[in-house]
Amino acid sequence: MALWGGRFAAGSSNMFRQVNDSLPFDQAMAAQDMEGSIVWSRALAKAGVLTSEEQQQLEAALSELKAQAEAGEIDFNASGEEDIHSFVEAALIDKLGDVGRKLHTGRSRNDQVATDFRLWCRTHIESLKTDVTAVVRSLLHTASRHQQAIIPGYTHLQRAQPIRFPHWCLAYVEMFKRDLSRLNDLHARMNQCPLGSGALAGTTYPVDRHEIAEQLGFTSPCLNSLDAVSDRDFVLELLFTASTSMMHLSRLAEDLIFYNSGEAGFLQLGDSVTSGSSLMPQKKNPDALELLRGKCGRVFGHLQALLVTMKGLPLAYNKDMQEDKEGAFDAVNQWHCCLCIACEVLDSLALNEERCRIAAAQGYSNATELADYLVGKGIPFRTAHDISGQVVLLALEHNAPIEDLSLEQLQSVCSDIDEDVYPVLQLEYGVDKRNILGGTSAETVTKALYQELENMDKLG
Ligand code: ARG
Repeated sequence: MALWGGRFAAGSSNMFRQVNDSLPFDQAMAAQDMEGSIVWSRALAKAGVLTSEEQQQLEAALSELKAQAEAGEIDFNASGEEDIHSFVEAALIDKLGDVGRKLHTGRSRNDQVATDFRLWCRTHIESLKTDVTAVVRSLLHTASRHQQAIIPGYTHLQRAQPIRFPHWCLAYVEMFKRDLSRLNDLHARMNQCPLGSGALAGTTYPVDRHEIAEQLGFTSPCLNSLDAVSDRDFVLELLFTASTSMMHLSRLAEDLIFYNSGEAGFLQLGDSVTSGSSLMPQKKNPDALELLRGKCGRVFGHLQALLVTMKGLPLAYNKDMQEDKEGAFDAVNQWHCCLCIACEVLDSLALNEERCRIAAAQGYSNATELADYLVGKGIPFRTAHDISGQVVLLALEHNAPIEDLSLEQLQSVCSDIDEDVYPVLQLEYGVDKRNILGGTSAETVTKALYQELENMDKLG
């Protein structure tokens, strides 16, 4: 039965119920709703609204209900209730009669849903932090398996300068560390308790909002009742964080799809995260990675959808805001699954170090080294750049790498080039010369890798 029947002569239409009812999806917040209700019953008892016996009855019934919900023993959909808040209240009335009818004193579904959803987000922020940390761990272990490997580094998807493979892994570690820090920031900002804000204007009952907040693990109560029931910034921030992290995953996926291609052949993916073709027997497709890329669409869409839903909404609560949940639930679930599958892909990949090395040495990716060598001979960089470009042209004419040109050929472009140029043109030389914080030399990269592994150990 609806919570608000008194003023109505006729019932709701079936189509209205279909549009209006949120129980089919907000039952995901059952545990949070019951937790919030337990704390609210305590606050009411302290404020003299409930006797301690009534409060104990409510708390016992709510705890029992919560255990049943967590054990999956409740068929929410069969109840015909409008939303999780109505469901819980109806279940209490069913069990306790008039005592159940007292719980909603001074409370509104508006402050209730805002509280439940914050609790839900907070729990998921914690588990998502574990998921993101697992990706960081997998990246570090993948880097550790191939510490000395050199791969081509690209700009514009053209071979640019060679890099150590762990350097590439550590680039993604930085991205996921930022995602973690965004989750931490979001947690700190959203951890305020709306309960006690009533429908929009606060409540007349003298409940202790600080104690309510504390009992629900919030840092403090929300400071303005109008804002408390209207605010969905925390959902938007979670969706933005999910979107940004999915974008990171999609870039990781795209790099790996390319490295795995027949054309590059830098690595193999495990059988467990690839699939075959129903027609072409030879195929092994990087489906997991394509889905990491593809699922960005719906996650970004959920962020956009909620921004549009919230835009221009007058204060305070409007039913539009019920649209906040399904997208967020889906985004969090997709992000979670994608983080898990990213770990599986990384853990199962095998780098073909020899192929990587050959590719890294191709494409004139030591042309910068030649320019820097000329700078060492006292030539201004812009001129050195030009000379090195001419050498590349010459090498292209001979269909050879720079280091295969004879000294005579090199000197035909610039007489300052000497025999000592050849070691400079070797693959490791340029890589290890970038021995600077944030660079790609063996020493820098190893140091960075061990630093991150140590940080991981501290996280446990
Ligand atoms: N199911 C609603 C939601 O998710 C709960 C709040 C309903 N409030 C109301 N005034 N009708 O937004």
